Amino acid sequence: MKKIIRILLYACVFLAALYGASRLYYGVTGGFTIGNISSTLAYDARWDTKPLSPQEKDVFNAILDQKFTYLGKGCQSYVFASDDGKYVLKFFKYQRFTPQLWLDYFAFIPAVDSYRLGKIDKKQKKLEAIFTSWKIAFEELRPETGLVYVHLNKTDDLNKTLTIVDKMGFEHHLNLDDMEFLIQKRAKMLCATLNQMMEAGKAEEAKGLLTRLVKLVLSEYERGLADNDHALMQNTGVFEGDPIHIDVGQFVHNEEIKKSEVANQELFNKTYKFRKWLHKHHPELAKHLEEQLLLTIGEQFHVMQPQLDKKK
Ligand SMILES: Nc1ncnc2c1ncn2[C@@H]1O[C@H](COP(=O)(O)OP(=O)(O)O)[C@@H](O)[C@H]1O
Ligand SMILES: [Mg+2]
Repeated sequence: MKKIIRILLYACVFLAALYGASRLYYGVTGGFTIGNISSTLAYDARWDTKPLSPQEKDVFNAILDQKFTYLGKGCQSYVFASDDGKYVLKFFKYQRFTPQLWLDYFAFIPAVDSYRLGKIDKKQKKLEAIFTSWKIAFEELRPETGLVYVHLNKTDDLNKTLTIVDKMGFEHHLNLDDMEFLIQKRAKMLCATLNQMMEAGKAEEAKGLLTRLVKLVLSEYERGLADNDHALMQNTGVFEGDPIHIDVGQFVHNEEIKKSEVANQELFNKTYKFRKWLHKHHPELAKHLEEQLLLTIGEQFHVMQPQLDKKK
């Protein structure tokens, strides 16, 4: 009996150590590997984007002549920042879109197989939605997103080897023709910028930024472009004084959003948590944002309720 307890104890310690080591590894690397940002995706005409003009190609080459170092990650992408501090490069986290391998081994069981096929289909649709969104952002929202370039199909004419530095400081060399990625202007985060402005006594400047943010979002709705990601504070940046969407993963064409009642509700939802944050940290700015919302939405604003259940 004692022996069994001892074995169980050793097993627990071993498993805890294994778990600890994997968490540590994940913390140190961010889960980043070259395999995770690489794909075997075949050419798909839907993801073609307009080729770069010779001038744009010069800019592209100049940007990629420098190293990019691990900056962070979101749910969908790994983000690297350029040495000159002006750009970010994003790669897909393909591990999120690949079904678990172990399911393949049990595919002979009909129930597991239909579950597996369902998963594959779901992940494929998710990836396609993000590709669509990146393309919409590049073709229809370039100023609003600060996008410089989007590469969604493998090519053979970029002829560019990029050096990236991972979270642990290791360098990797990537043939960009083989990768799916985007280049975007590097922005400061919205809330940090507002904090800085308020600390520097620049309340009017901060209010101007909020007014432009509301205008930015409304101008997209007017064009039938919606952003299904409501995490405004995590996904909005400020570039050269103007708000931009740094997360470009959930844009969709939506004719409904052109209708003012739909647009108003969407604007209300999108700004809801942000308003709470402003009330807590900068009540003066919360008041200003609410004035802007009242101007747009009208008296309805006072009785509106947020609809935040939309799936991310
Ligand atoms: N253009 C950018 N400028 C500065 N930081 C950025 C930029 N894009 C992304 N980041 C940082 O990387 C994080 C993840 O990027 P994001 O595009 O939101 O990826 P995901 O689609 O995976 O959520 C952001 O929350 C932000 O901290
Ligand atoms: Mg994000």
